[in-house]
Amino acid sequence: MRWNLSLTCAAALFGFGLFAVSEASADVFRDPDTGFSFSQKDVAITTNNEFITFRVAIPSPAPAGQPYDAVIQVVAPVAAGWVGVAWGGSMTNNPLLISWANGASGVVSIRRATAHTAPAVYTGASAQVLSKGTKSNGTHWQVTSKCTGCTQFTTTGTTTKTLNPAGSNRLAFAYSKTKPSQPGSNSSPINVHDLFNYWEHDFASAGNPEFQDLVDRNL
Ligand code: HEM
Ligand SMILES: *[C@@H]1O[C@H](CO)[C@@H](O)[C@H](O)[C@H]1NC(C)=O
Repeated sequence: MRWNLSLTCAAALFGFGLFAVSEASADVFRDPDTGFSFSQKDVAITTNNEFITFRVAIPSPAPAGQPYDAVIQVVAPVAAGWVGVAWGGSMTNNPLLISWANGASGVVSIRRATAHTAPAVYTGASAQVLSKGTKSNGTHWQVTSKCTGCTQFTTTGTTTKTLNPAGSNRLAFAYSKTKPSQPGSNSSPINVHDLFNYWEHDFASAGNPEFQDLVDRNL
């Protein structure tokens, strides 16, 4: 009791309590459209306060060392022609999930590259657009998709990488201002990116106990 009281005092004095609470919940987004609880990260693309938001939802519990599906929601300024997520944190030797807007709907494509050249369509993972989480307005487009094969994959040779469902994983993104030339086709050619970068994504706060139900409801 006394310990609690003095902790409360310290928190009140220094503002720790409030700060800690908002920090802990700041990166979780409960999406009213889809019902998913996403762990999210805003990644800057200009020095002018423009960013792309990456949101990840995974099943909970997700067994360690096993593959699991992931839902990714990308929110990008309309100036972005395509946005790619590299699940292994670099351009080469991992699944690249590329999203773009096509009118009111969205397209998602999985590619893979062994060098810094245009990645090829990759069938070792598959992605499906979740239509209820896909929309656009005058400033942003948003594409939500489910990937099977993005959280466990071979990198080079027989090396397998499994993303940690209980910790953080280093992901990479790239985006181009140029739209794919055949926007209605998920095998469309794409232009090279204008920007790429890396971030640590917290998967520990991405868990959804109702994951499969939510996927089915949002198709
Ligand atoms: C036509 C398609 C693409 C071409 C021609 C291309 C080409 C390149 C080149 C030349 C570099 C080296 C740039 C440098 O070192 O400054 C690079 C780096 C990179 N690219 Fe791409 N790229 C393409 C698509 C993608 C896609 C779809 C992603 C998905 C996220 C991606 C992610 C990256 C990343 C993260 C890097 C940094 C280096 C690394 O991690 O390997 N690229 N790319
Ligand atoms: C436009 O759409 C984006 C993505 O769904 C959303 O985050 C943003 O709040 C919307 N803006 C307006 C003004 O409705």
